[in-house]
Parts: sequence; structure tokens; C-alpha cells
Amino acid sequence: MSSPTFTYPTFVPKPAITSGNGYKCPSCGLELSIIEGTTTYSCDNNHSFDRAKEGYINLHLAQHKRSRNPGDSDDMIRSRQRFLNAGYYQDLAKAIIAHLGEQDGEQLVDKRLLDIGCGEGYYLSEIRKVHSELQLVGIDISKTAVRLAAKRKLDAQLAVDSAFNISLFDNSIDTAISVFSPINAPETSRVLKPGGTLIMVGPGEQHLSGLTAHIYDKTQPHKGNYASLDDSPEFTLKEQIEVSETICVKGTAIADLLRMTPYYWHCTPEQQAQLGTLEQLETPIHFTIRLYQNCAEALEILEALEILEAPDTLETPEILEAPEILATAETPEAPKE
Ligand SMILES: C[S@@+](CC[C@H](N)C(=O)[O-])C[C@H]1O[C@@H](n2cnc3c(N)ncnc32)[C@H](O)[C@@H]1O
Ligand SMILES: [Zn+2]
Repeated sequence: MSSPTFTYPTFVPKPAITSGNGYKCPSCGLELSIIEGTTTYSCDNNHSFDRAKEGYINLHLAQHKRSRNPGDSDDMIRSRQRFLNAGYYQDLAKAIIAHLGEQDGEQLVDKRLLDIGCGEGYYLSEIRKVHSELQLVGIDISKTAVRLAAKRKLDAQLAVDSAFNISLFDNSIDTAISVFSPINAPETSRVLKPGGTLIMVGPGEQHLSGLTAHIYDKTQPHKGNYASLDDSPEFTLKEQIEVSETICVKGTAIADLLRMTPYYWHCTPEQQAQLGTLEQLETPIHFTIRLYQNCAEALEILEALEILEAPDTLETPEILEAPEILATAETPEAPKE
């Protein structure tokens, strides 16, 4: 009888972590974890990023930068912080908070909210005052903005990062917000869970017309930041809410309001000086809040269906390896677990 042969078990390398609630390395896409006893985040490929003393991390790679200091200027950011801290846009913050977790009356415990283009963190800070249970994440391309946001000590994950290339994993965010900031539909949809909510805020028609009356002869219509979402297959508009009131801006807050907006660049020195003489400025503020739903899952189902209908492509490995997509496609009414 021949002696039994012993075969060593095949070595299966541990798969790389490609999901989770941490940061995704902007160089290679692996998970970044903190090296024990240090303030350095590193991936398995030894790309490393230091956490700043304020607690944020800079994941915006130099080779992806279009300018030395991308995003809003430091002056704009500091003016915006003073203006917002004075409470002039508090009703907008309240309206955003009122719509968090609105879909299906969901509970916010353990949910992750991402503020895209969070600036110096005013809205994250207002959300934190009401929702201690939420996991907050904020990104902005301006380092000054993120540093100021980190100084608010919000117990939030804050990173210098671009809305066009977010260093977070797929499906890792429950709700995203974007207040007057640039947005990229496919990238936002990727990090949001299927069915997750995107809350976009832009200017309504009357926004700051009391200020622009000092600068332009005719009221300038606002474009808003919705254009990239209007035709995007990733998002469905669910609801639109208008928030408006008239505010009375006092003293130096008038100059802050001017400096935090692009109107500052359109203003002549004479107009600036004239605005500087005002003791108070009455102006309507008008915000349009749009609630979108991420339809990434529906897109996957459609793609699966298309492939099912085309026999030539049936061997596409992603489809054969993803029976749950086919099952959902065949039984769209099936209750989810
Ligand atoms: C009008 S401010 C709004 C800031 C904040 N959401 C608020 O309402 O206070 C626009 C913000 O978008 C940031 N920003 C510009 N381009 C960006 C990009 N590609 N990715 C992330 N943030 C960006 C700017 O630095 C700025 O802080
Ligand atoms: Zn890496």
C-alpha cells in the first residue's frame, strides 16, 4: 500500500480590506489605519499620512492639486465663520436637521453623515448639538477650513479631501449634505449607501437680494449647485423645500457677508466703501433644499437586467458572482432582510 501523500494547504493571502468606515488611501485605495502609539495613518503599501494636532488628516495629494491653496480663500472662510457663528443662517441649519433621517422615519443611531465641502464646520457643529449619536464626517478641499472645523472639537472625522475623489469606501455613508459646495454625482453616489439621502442646499431666487442691490443694477439670478445632479442617473429628486426670511445684518457682519460670497469680487472699491458705512443691512435670505435619493442599487439592477437580456455577455464574472443582484432584479417587490 502506498503511503498517503501529504499536501500542504494552499496559501491563500488575506484579502485586502476594501470597505469599512475608515479612510481609503488616496494613493492605492487600501484602508488606512493608525499606527499604534503614533499619529500616523498608513496602508499596507506604506503610504502614510500624519494626523494634524487639531485632529484632521490631509488626504488631498499634491499631484491632484490644481493650485497651491485650493478651495475658498482663508479670508472668505474666516469671514464665513464669523457670520455663521452670529446665527444669521440658523434657520437653514434647523431645516437641514429637521430633514435628517426623514426617509422611512429611520433612526439615526450609528448612522454616518458626510458633509461634502463642510467649510469651517458650522453645519456639522449645529448637527452635533442635536445629534450626539450620529457619526459625523466632513471633507473640504481647503486646509484652513478643515483646520477651523477640527478646532470646533465636534468628535467628527475630518479630512482635507476633494468632492471629486473622496477617500471613503463605497456604501459607507447613510446621509450626505452639501451646502453651497461643489458636488460630483457619481462620486457622491459611490460613497452613499443605496437608497441613502443627499441633502443639497443652494440659493433661492431672492437670496441676498438686499446685498446685491448695492452691487448690480438688476437682480442677478442664482444658478445654484444642482446642475450636475439634474441629469444624473444616480439620484432621484424626492422633495424640494424653500426656506426664506428677512434678516438684519449688523455692523461688521455686513463686511463678513460680502467677503464670504463671490459678490466681493464683483464689487467696486466705491461699492465696498459704501457698504462699509452702513450700520445695518436688511436682506432676504432664501435657500432651496433638495432631497435626493441615491439610486445606485436600481442602476445595478438595470445593468444586471440588460446583461441578462444579452446572452453574449452572460459570462460577465461580476454578474455570475453577484446572485443577490439577479435575485433582487427578478423580485423587485421582495422584502429586504
Ligand atoms: C460656499 S463654501 C460652503 C462651505 C460650507 N458648506 C458652508 O455653507 O458654510 C464652498 C466650500 O467648498 C469647498 N470646496 C471647493 N471645491 C471643493 C472640492 N473640489 N472638494 C471639496 N470642497 C471644495 C471650499 O473650500 C468651501 O469651503
Ligand atoms: Zn496606499
